[in-house]
Amino acid sequence: MGKRRWLISAIFIYLIAFSFGRELRVKEDHSSIYNHTLAQILVSYASAVYVADLTELFTWTCARCDGLIKEFEVIELVVDIQHCLQGFVGVAKDLNAIIIAFRGTQEHSIMNWIEDLYWKQLDLNYPGMDDAMVHRGFYYAYHNTTIRPAVLNAIKRAKELYGEIPIMVTGHSMGGAMASFCGIDLKVNHEAQNVQVMTFGQPRVGNAVFASYYNKLVPKTIRVTNDRDIVPHLPPYYYYFPQKTYHHFPREVWLYNIGLESLVYKIEKVCDGTGEDPSCSRSVTGTSISDHLVYYGVELMSGVPGTCRIVMDPRIAEYGTRDLSGNFVLSRVPTTPVIRLNTEACIEGRSELN
Ligand SMILES: *[C@@H]1O[C@H](CO)[C@@H](O)[C@H](O)[C@H]1NC(C)=O
Ligand SMILES: *[C@@H]1O[C@H](CO)[C@@H](O)[C@H](O)[C@H]1NC(C)=O
Repeated sequence: MGKRRWLISAIFIYLIAFSFGRELRVKEDHSSIYNHTLAQILVSYASAVYVADLTELFTWTCARCDGLIKEFEVIELVVDIQHCLQGFVGVAKDLNAIIIAFRGTQEHSIMNWIEDLYWKQLDLNYPGMDDAMVHRGFYYAYHNTTIRPAVLNAIKRAKELYGEIPIMVTGHSMGGAMASFCGIDLKVNHEAQNVQVMTFGQPRVGNAVFASYYNKLVPKTIRVTNDRDIVPHLPPYYYYFPQKTYHHFPREVWLYNIGLESLVYKIEKVCDGTGEDPSCSRSVTGTSISDHLVYYGVELMSGVPGTCRIVMDPRIAEYGTRDLSGNFVLSRVPTTPVIRLNTEACIEGRSELN
């Protein structure tokens, strides 16, 4: 028994020493690529965009809006009721950047959504890029809904007020897929100079040709994966069908735990430039849904899972426009004082949609 324990300790010490050594090296090499502090800030935005109470989100008073990101002003909040999508654009004073965040899927069951991912086809040619194939559904979620025009309009307004400041695009899961299409759209169609994309637990969205175009156009991209999160493994990567397979774009940063029993260390591994580093998330089998829902200790799901339900104070509605399908956009000028509604007082006035 004593011997076994000794052996376990020895292995453990070795693992820790090894991983620390590696982590130190990683920090030296990659500080210009991956910034942990920025990741923690952006994951908070990716979490906040799940909030169903639009009053709290629009006025930036939700519980998830607290903490790291107080200095933020929403410029536009867009809800595509038809396709159950949500996103916002705003300006972060501390980062001096425009932030764009997209919500992940709100389908009735995350399990069903994940099962569907196995069967997604590469069924759309990315416009203007020979042989670059993507999944139509992900592409259309950004390109063929009310989301894109609202985002572009908000960026235009933000630029009029703040000039050419950097744009940071983020999202979790399906929202990460939308963030990547948004990032490349801003580069290709809108000549945005400084675009960074950071996604959390996003699925694959296109083939190797697309990944290569993407990497050239939006090199400042970090695709964070968490331990055994199942979603980054989907749609599957078929090593033996290079023409047919999905292929991630770089650069992955893989978060995983090392250690035994109660002593667990978090490692953040900056992966290679291929997008499909076999020593990162691909070195484990992706089997976990719970690893999909929490990144950096931050919850990435809705408080009311499984519905597209939203809650909105009628007084907020005056900031909005609504189309015939019920989709709406709430806009405000960021320099004007934010209306601070007393949430206690407005509960009775809430109208519930969907
Ligand atoms: C990382 O990001 C934070 C927040 O944007 C910034 O304050 C810090 O200077 C960055 N660190 C590096 C090494 O770039
Ligand atoms: C784009 O969206 C509209 C409205 O939702 C729909 O009618 C149209 O068929 C879509 N376009 C394509 C090519 O799917």
